[in-house]
Amino acid sequence: MSKKYTVTSALPYANGPLHIGHIAGAYLPADIYVRYRKSKGDDVLFVCGSDEHGAAITLRAKKDGVSPQEIVDKYHAINEKAFTDLGIDFDIYHRTSSELHHETASEYFKTLEEKEVFTQKTSEQFFDEEYQQFLADRYITGECPKCGYEHAYGDQCEKCGSALSPLELKNPTSTLSGNTPVMKTTSHWYLSMQKHEVWLKEWIEEGMLDGKQHHDPKTWRSQVLGQCKSWIDGGLQERAMTRDLDWGVKVPVEGADGKVLYVWLDAPIGYITATKQWASDNGKDWKSYWQGDDVELIHFIGKDNIVFHCVIFPIILRAHGNYALPTNVPANEFLNLEGDKLSTSRNWAIWLHEYIEDFENQQDVLRYALCATAPESKDTDFTWKDFQTRNNSELVGILGNFINRVVVLTNKYWEGKVPEQGELTIYDQEVLQAIKDSPKKIGYCIERYKFREALSEMMSLARLGNKYLADTEPWKLKKTDEVRTQTIINIALQLAASLSILSKPFLPFTAEKLTAMLNVSESAWEQSAEQLLSTNHQIEKASLLFSRIEDEQIEAQLARLG
Ligand code: 2FM
Ligand code: ZN
Repeated sequence: MSKKYTVTSALPYANGPLHIGHIAGAYLPADIYVRYRKSKGDDVLFVCGSDEHGAAITLRAKKDGVSPQEIVDKYHAINEKAFTDLGIDFDIYHRTSSELHHETASEYFKTLEEKEVFTQKTSEQFFDEEYQQFLADRYITGECPKCGYEHAYGDQCEKCGSALSPLELKNPTSTLSGNTPVMKTTSHWYLSMQKHEVWLKEWIEEGMLDGKQHHDPKTWRSQVLGQCKSWIDGGLQERAMTRDLDWGVKVPVEGADGKVLYVWLDAPIGYITATKQWASDNGKDWKSYWQGDDVELIHFIGKDNIVFHCVIFPIILRAHGNYALPTNVPANEFLNLEGDKLSTSRNWAIWLHEYIEDFENQQDVLRYALCATAPESKDTDFTWKDFQTRNNSELVGILGNFINRVVVLTNKYWEGKVPEQGELTIYDQEVLQAIKDSPKKIGYCIERYKFREALSEMMSLARLGNKYLADTEPWKLKKTDEVRTQTIINIALQLAASLSILSKPFLPFTAEKLTAMLNVSESAWEQSAEQLLSTNHQIEKASLLFSRIEDEQIEAQLARLG
């Protein structure tokens, strides 16, 4: 059987719109990776969907005075559209409130229960007396025991990234009533993570599983390995896999009324549900994307999701049996905005749907700017000024300028027909060599999850094309040396044709326009190493790929922040 790539992007909570931090973290890199793999002809499935359970949703519903279902219906539609608008091309965008998911998650839980993966235990938990409700971890805030941050959540400190349990917080407060919660007895199903420590450590640190090399840990990002190691070394503990909540997948066991699956058990199973739905819609076998040695499972996430995808979900997958474990989890760090942390409550964000409205047909500019500043190894900063410069100097000034020049000249001098290639100079040969080398170079970076570097390699080729024209000045040469001019334009056109393939993972809208302008059919990745255009091939008239972004537009965006 051939290799199957199962690529997931974190299911975003359907409790609000998406901003650029989400996109830079988990969606754009995954989309680039998948588009590249598809262009290579690999068997790859890209799944995502809305995370529609958990306290984040019920909290939002409570604030808005509507039902959780209304909230998730609204944001599922908004987010699905925003992804489509930006060209994030999932094979399926599913939902965890769907019947199929409830069924899938419920079955999954039952299997784990039968295999005695859980222990049921009674304990004291925080309870809000005013609201007569047990408090989900997210409903409690307090002081982080690790770093002292005063507004840490009961499940995680957003300052230092530590995963917490609410009992560890100092001065806990209920976010429902603002009161100090009381302790009350309840019973839950626990996953004893410490029982899995031995294989997990070997798998994370050495990439070994059942005595075989499962993956090469050197290909994992150091911050991902670091977080996992510090979790494991800190001592794995048991963690409740159920919650007292009336919104979610019901615990499928007698006597568990009023309890639902923990959202971090339920949500990753959503990847499996999405695969099942896609397979049934497309006449495929979902199991072949989740089971077997030839599955490459890759989770694209933000750094706040690392432990859930590298520790908890792998434990659950393995405890169930018959599931492949992730071969990589290329988590990104955080993207800041104008030097400050992105924040929904302070409206310190660039909302995707607003960008799409304000910058019509300029989706690729955002994709470009976000990929160029992607927080791959450390937090990075997005600024509107940088966005403008990248557009005006790089997309307009280099890529757009190059394409426009060569297409205009071809139309002006040869009625849009690709002129013949004559004798080659060393410079010509260098350019042809760069065309030959580029797909490998860019692919090498993408396969190692280095998307910034990959993008910069792609732009280097465009830069070379632009320089080649500037150096050889075919518009001047035309008057004195027709043969030489034809050769230069032929080579520049070959480079443009390669770019129509190589730019596609990053700039799919632009690649489509370029493909149409050059009147070529879509080709596979490796073909971009070749000279794709034959002599006399007819191209179309030039149309602008990018347009300048003016200071006023940037100022208007800056004024809107906060
Ligand atoms: O952090 C989040 O936004 C979660 N909704 C991500 C879930 S990822 C997966 F497990 F589904
Ligand atoms: Zn902390």
